[in-house]
Amino acid sequence: MYQISELANLVGMSRTALLYYEKLGLIKGQRLDNGYRVYTDLDLQRIRLIQQLHQGGLTLKECRAFLIEKMDKSLIERRLSELDIEIEQKQHSRDLLASLLGMGDEKAWHEALIINAPDAHLDWIKQQGFNEREALRLKWLSKNMTQHEQYMNDFMKVFETLTRWGPGSEDETLKALSTLPVPPKNILEIGCGKGLATLVLANNLSGNITSIDNEQSALDSLKIMLESEGIGKRVEPVCASMTDLPFEDKSFDLIWSEASAYIMGVETALAKWKSLLTDNGVLVFSDLVLLNQTPSKAVKEFWDKDYPDIQTVETRRKQITAAGYEIISDFQFSQFAWDNYYSPLKKRVEELAPTMKDSTALKDITSEVEFYFNHNSEYGYQMFVLKKI
Ligand SMILES: C[S@@+](CC[C@H](N)C(=O)[O-])C[C@H]1O[C@@H](n2cnc3c(N)ncnc32)[C@H](O)[C@@H]1O
Repeated sequence: MYQISELANLVGMSRTALLYYEKLGLIKGQRLDNGYRVYTDLDLQRIRLIQQLHQGGLTLKECRAFLIEKMDKSLIERRLSELDIEIEQKQHSRDLLASLLGMGDEKAWHEALIINAPDAHLDWIKQQGFNEREALRLKWLSKNMTQHEQYMNDFMKVFETLTRWGPGSEDETLKALSTLPVPPKNILEIGCGKGLATLVLANNLSGNITSIDNEQSALDSLKIMLESEGIGKRVEPVCASMTDLPFEDKSFDLIWSEASAYIMGVETALAKWKSLLTDNGVLVFSDLVLLNQTPSKAVKEFWDKDYPDIQTVETRRKQITAAGYEIISDFQFSQFAWDNYYSPLKKRVEELAPTMKDSTALKDITSEVEFYFNHNSEYGYQMFVLKKI
């Protein structure tokens, strides 16, 4: 027989809690003639049993039913599935916290935010100490705050020997140029990269060209190329961000942007760049598009991660009209324009594979190249030639 204080000690509970157990009928004390309450060894064991059930997530009332009735299996099953959900949520929280400390994969977290809260997500990355350029690169490329620098070093290593940084060709640039209503005098090229389109523009237009990019090494290559072609004077390379262009309103009668408007979002680019155009000025841009209204699961999943704002040509046309432009022409890139980009890139990743086995950037680029060669019938690149109205 145990007095209540002894029992409390043995089971690690308070006297009040034991009296509550007694009130619920979980244990039954006997009052002795001297007024003390005493409990049997069976009470002690029942408390230990209840403690186990309690740890399994049952309430005290359920423990009571469990003790005096046959086990309610459906109740246990329900609790089990509730617990599974809770564990999954907790695991998710744990993964997130671990990934923010560089101990896990934070990619999925960025991907979800890029879809659900793109602007707040970008602001938050900047808040963590990344400048605008790196924040955009983190969003589009590394999706990793702790390994970002390494990722970008590897990424640039892949692209440093390649001149074309996006799908396109001289034919595509010339085709778009041939649809311009009037020869432009002041041209702004945005996201010029190493300047393959710049060269075509300079050779076929007599106006002044300002070419901007936020990657200085690309602008350095552009300068070398312009000098060797003898057209350095008419092109001014400027290191600036497309999101914050250092030019007065209505400064240009032509804006040209191959494979770069997506970086700040096509709709934002359409709205922001418009004020830089003179009345009736022309905007030419190219963008990745879906060729089917209902893409296959594989294509949807892939671009949801890499370019969630991908649209069909039809939807882009509607956005363009809604943004206050008239479509002069638009056309789909040829197979050659794609191969022009992916074939040298494929060769380059194969060449680097043996020495960059652990590189996430190389893996990502390789999987994009492979994806292209397996699914290219479902997506394309479209050039849009638009007049500001
Ligand atoms: C896909 S590449 C296309 C380059 C080039 N137009 C071509 O087709 O080869 C995108 C270009 O945009 C540049 N870029 C990225 N973010 C930028 C920003 N915020 N402002 C200006 N340029 C940016 C990159 O450095 C890169 O040169």
